[in-house]
Amino acid sequence: MYGGYGSPPANGYSYGQQQAAHAQQPPQQQVAPPPAMPGLAPGWSPARCPTTGNTYFYEHASGKVSWTAPAPVAVTALPPPANHEGYSAQAAPAEAQDAWAAVQAHIAASRSGQPPPQFTQTTTSTFNQAGAPKRRGGDLSILKKDLESPPDVLKWRQEREITVAGGCDTCYPKFEDAPLPAQLHISLKGAGFPTPSPIQGQAWPPALEGRDVIGVAKTGSGKTLGFLVPAFKRLCGSGFPRPCQSCAPKVLVLAPTRELATQIEVEARKFGAALGIKSVCCYGGAPKGPQLSALRQGAHICIATPGRLNDFLEGNMMGAHAVEYLVFDEADRMLDMGFEPQIRRIVARCPGTRQTLFFTATWPKEVRALASEFLSEPVVIYVGDTSGALKCNTDVTQAVYVTRGPQVKDRLLQECVRKEVQAANGGVCRVIVFANSKRLCDQLERSMPRLLQLRCAAMHGDKDQFQRTQTLEAFKLGICPVLIATDVAARGLDVKDVRAVINYDFPGNVEDYVHRIGRTGRAGAKGNAYTFFTQRDDRKAGPLIKLLEDAKQPVPDELRSMCRGGGMGSSMQFSGGGGSYGGGRRAGRGGGGGGN
Ligand SMILES: Nc1ncnc2c1ncn2[C@@H]1O[C@H](COP(=O)(O)OP(=O)(O)OP(=O)(O)O)[C@@H](O)[C@H]1O
Ligand SMILES: [Mg+2]
Repeated sequence: MYGGYGSPPANGYSYGQQQAAHAQQPPQQQVAPPPAMPGLAPGWSPARCPTTGNTYFYEHASGKVSWTAPAPVAVTALPPPANHEGYSAQAAPAEAQDAWAAVQAHIAASRSGQPPPQFTQTTTSTFNQAGAPKRRGGDLSILKKDLESPPDVLKWRQEREITVAGGCDTCYPKFEDAPLPAQLHISLKGAGFPTPSPIQGQAWPPALEGRDVIGVAKTGSGKTLGFLVPAFKRLCGSGFPRPCQSCAPKVLVLAPTRELATQIEVEARKFGAALGIKSVCCYGGAPKGPQLSALRQGAHICIATPGRLNDFLEGNMMGAHAVEYLVFDEADRMLDMGFEPQIRRIVARCPGTRQTLFFTATWPKEVRALASEFLSEPVVIYVGDTSGALKCNTDVTQAVYVTRGPQVKDRLLQECVRKEVQAANGGVCRVIVFANSKRLCDQLERSMPRLLQLRCAAMHGDKDQFQRTQTLEAFKLGICPVLIATDVAARGLDVKDVRAVINYDFPGNVEDYVHRIGRTGRAGAKGNAYTFFTQRDDRKAGPLIKLLEDAKQPVPDELRSMCRGGGMGSSMQFSGGGGSYGGGRRAGRGGGGGGN
């Protein structure tokens, strides 16, 4: 009979003590225990909460419920997540309450002889060997830097300015070092890549071990394969991937824009198709039918924007219960205020045993605390900087012009583009012009072709998906060499041979500045960035100066005086010089919000 919930299992945690009410229940009918699970103590079985995906261990004879696998187990047991330890249902966060309710329903059903409706029997997860929920939370800023790795690993990191924290003592300087399927090695070599890029060489080892990873590396440094390659290996093991259930992908990659999601899908197909891995891209603004049909055929990898993914999940058109590997590309953008509520809903549906990876070029403090909620004891990797401070790609030459008024900006825009066209010397001269509002993008799309004598096309959130796709395709092909865009094009887009980026308006924050100018100077190429700065941007003068100085770029005197004039912190040290254009300190034509 069920003997109450009093004593915790030898190697586990019982929640029964908080649930005294259950001890007074009437005698229950005997239920035959399930067959013993290999590796688990007799009478114990794992059970998964459908709401949270967390795996529990449940003893049929006593009704004890434990986060950790009771001895003897072949795998290391994990401690329970901090926020679940000794909880009472009232005080517990929503997730724990749901989970506990599901556990209780399971126990009640078992007691009454009914088949347990809420749990499915499950073997331990392939991704988290303990099969127990991972410990999430914790302060990511106090992680200890790894200084005790073997000397050759430390040397390789030092040469590439890589800082690692969280416990990882390997790296893969060469592709041959990585235990990947032979076909994947062939594809990577076939792409003409000489070695893994620094973020790849450092992120692959912990990711392949099943660790959670935060990877921060400059724009254009190969982060996409940084997270896709371990996903391929996970799916394939040493052979071909097993078929996925319909509408239940095992790998989920979240990206902030449709264009970026599509680009990741292209990369996933390029390197994954030969391995038999099926990918699907789900984004809003396009018909749901073809996306659902690909999901139904059992896609292994789903690359999605949060809005469309939530539509599918909440409409029960697909499930996140099989997700073992969850990636946030442009992680800081995904966690900022715009996306956070949607992200929380998605993550709540993914199993607690999943592996989670965050990749970005910018990692502001504001999002780090939030990130820790979704990650479990991550390995944190910074490439190119030891402090984690915001940095620009130093392959981009930056010029900042303090300007006023749209006429000055238009004239300046012409000069910059002309200069780039001359330097291209007859070759295709791709330039991206960023403006802050959709309206301004449309205005520039009308006025610029005549002034520049080049074809220009605008891309922003009010353009329909067909127009956006056509515009980007024309830009990639060089048919339309000037792309005028809002921040929909700021993150992640990888177009070959973009010679220059022009910030007609300064973006809303310096992180976006770093991403915008990162559309040029990618994968070792060089590029130019021209930025028009006005008085209305003065609050961003300080952080911009810091970025320019760190990247050893000239700082215009006018920009310095804006900063001194009351913009940013007086504690900053300034050096170097630069030029200004158009003088004045009055606001020019800003973009004014409008975002995407
Ligand atoms: N090992 C490698 N060696 C050389 N080039 C590579 C390597 N891996 C990827 N690349 C190329 O580098 C380019 C940039 O890669 P990717 O788009 O993944 O950069 P990213 O770090 O994600 O940049 P962003 O921060 O802008 O999103 C791509 O064209 C990709 O094909
Ligand atoms: Mg990227």
